[in-house]
Amino acid sequence: MLSTRFTETFGVEHPIVQGGMQWVGRAELAAAVSNAGGLGIITALTQPTPEDLATEIRRARDMTDKPLGVNLTILPSINPPPYDEYRRVIAEAGITIVETAGQNPEPHMAFFHDHGIKVLHKCTSVRHAVKAEAVGVDGVSIDGFECAGHPGEDDTPGLILIPAATSRITIPVIASGGIADERGLVAALALGADGVNMGTRFMSTQESFIHDRVKNRIVDATEHDTELIFRPLRNTARVARNEISTKVVEMLDAGAVFADVRDLVAGVRGREVYETGDLDAGIWSVGMVQGLIEDVPTVQELVERMVAGAERIISERLGGLITAG
Ligand SMILES: Cc1cc2nc3c(=O)[nH]c(=O)nc-3n(C[C@H](O)[C@H](O)[C@H](O)COP(=O)(O)O)c2cc1C
Repeated sequence: MLSTRFTETFGVEHPIVQGGMQWVGRAELAAAVSNAGGLGIITALTQPTPEDLATEIRRARDMTDKPLGVNLTILPSINPPPYDEYRRVIAEAGITIVETAGQNPEPHMAFFHDHGIKVLHKCTSVRHAVKAEAVGVDGVSIDGFECAGHPGEDDTPGLILIPAATSRITIPVIASGGIADERGLVAALALGADGVNMGTRFMSTQESFIHDRVKNRIVDATEHDTELIFRPLRNTARVARNEISTKVVEMLDAGAVFADVRDLVAGVRGREVYETGDLDAGIWSVGMVQGLIEDVPTVQELVERMVAGAERIISERLGGLITAG
């Protein structure tokens, strides 16, 4: 067993979190991670309405009675989703852990804490982690530049970002981005983190709903096969390199504006990739860590081998480096 401030504060057996994933973070995957002793997280906005989220949480609850989280990604939007309604559904469903991301969680903190919900805020910079601690979150996940999805604009890799964060804040810190196995878990603990958050690694498991062609692509791909889109718009996202992402980068570099690429990057097209396995149908998130992923295990196998492997590295390999005198 690996006991950390995260496992103690959040009541989770292993220091392993499955981060929120648009279109991917559904009941089956989240329940499998929770059943394996990690923290499984359902992604709220994958569900078109708050009522659908309530149904999805019920489905997950039928599959696990272990701690379960919900991700609430708060993004600037012309037509924002009804965050208050999603929040209410989360509380009514008895969820006790929420992963917030995207923006300062302060407007939501009183509600969550009043309803006995712990908040794990995910961010990509030390200054945002410091701010999150100041507004009362219970833990911070910090995403290095390697990560899938939105790495921010600072381009600070985890090897620097994680210890920079852990030396500035006192609440539990979860290292995120670029972690796929026991080596990453031990490294994160060595850097001062209290656990790890993984996206890409959990995409490529048996219980993840995405098409087998996408999982196999993750297994075959190398760390070079991602693309950073929206850099000129300062809204960078790390996604799979394919026909669409390459085209979007070329267009924006040549001076196009968001409206010019809007249809190419539409969320429904990304969803089509996951559902149909057409790898060029749209933009889909994936991290550089795909270069380390070589199989499609069950979640239970993955979590077990990470924990057992981490214990072995700590007690044998690292312990064995210490010599008397
Ligand atoms: C397919 C996919 C979708 C994601 N969608 C979201 C999201 O909606 N909200 C969010 O906070 N993070 C999202 N992320 C980021 C993950 O929660 C996690 O922080 C990231 O994957 C960690 O990097 P890794 O992939 O190297 O493990 C997504 C990641 C992936 C792979």
